[in-house]
Amino acid sequence: ALSPQTLFTGRQVVSLPECASTNSEAQDLIHRNRATDGCVVITDKQTAGRGQRGNRWEAAPGENLTLSVVWRPSFLPAPDQFLLSQAVALAVHDWLVTLLGPDPALRVKWPNDIFFGNRKLGGILIENTLSGTMIQHSVVGIGININQQEFGTATAASLASLTGRAYSLELLASRLLEHLERRYLQLRAGRLAAIRHDYRQVLYRYRQPHAYEVDGRQITGEIIDVDEAGRLAVLTSGQVRYFDLKEIRYII
Ligand code: BTN
Repeated sequence: ALSPQTLFTGRQVVSLPECASTNSEAQDLIHRNRATDGCVVITDKQTAGRGQRGNRWEAAPGENLTLSVVWRPSFLPAPDQFLLSQAVALAVHDWLVTLLGPDPALRVKWPNDIFFGNRKLGGILIENTLSGTMIQHSVVGIGININQQEFGTATAASLASLTGRAYSLELLASRLLEHLERRYLQLRAGRLAAIRHDYRQVLYRYRQPHAYEVDGRQITGEIIDVDEAGRLAVLTSGQVRYFDLKEIRYII
């Protein structure tokens, strides 16, 4: 069982041996009015894990963290929803710093992938439902590679592959929930400048000239910010351009 030292996040936990997707299970709880603020769905095995851009999320069963948190951020206007994404990515980063130590290789790749060097350690999929112009429910899905050693791709990593240790998923999940609640409370308290600042501090390739692909063409630019709508601000040829997720590709 999970035992996070939190006020509300993870006080209610639905732990499933297997499910299609913890985000979908969380959505289901919401529809059945069974989702308390901060409730968590966690599983050992996802059979249809979902990622961003309609991708699948694959993770070896029993070896990785796969969970979703439901919050009710009724204080958050829909146009500001990227702040929640930033807060969550920061919480995951905060937590990983406690496990790996501060390391400049540990970065948040916009919008909210967790990278170590050029390898992906984990991802976040947030699904919000609105009530008018405010957010009613937010399903925060987090997948982090922990004990898995073999990957089908050279661009993935796990905590164990970085440290050579093996981890208890339950202990890790409890600590992660504490970090998530801390950043969530920071957001709820309106400390938005701190969230934006801390996010920039850990942003992958921040202020480093690099190649990107835009409209099928290669550009060179430097990430200088992420705006309030969550768009990437890139300085290229003396001009700042703003991109949505579908509009720019990173070239590794
Ligand atoms: C991404 O990198 O594209 C986001 C991956 C998010 C995966 C997590 S695993 C728990 C939760 N349930 C899902 O189906 N997806 C998220």
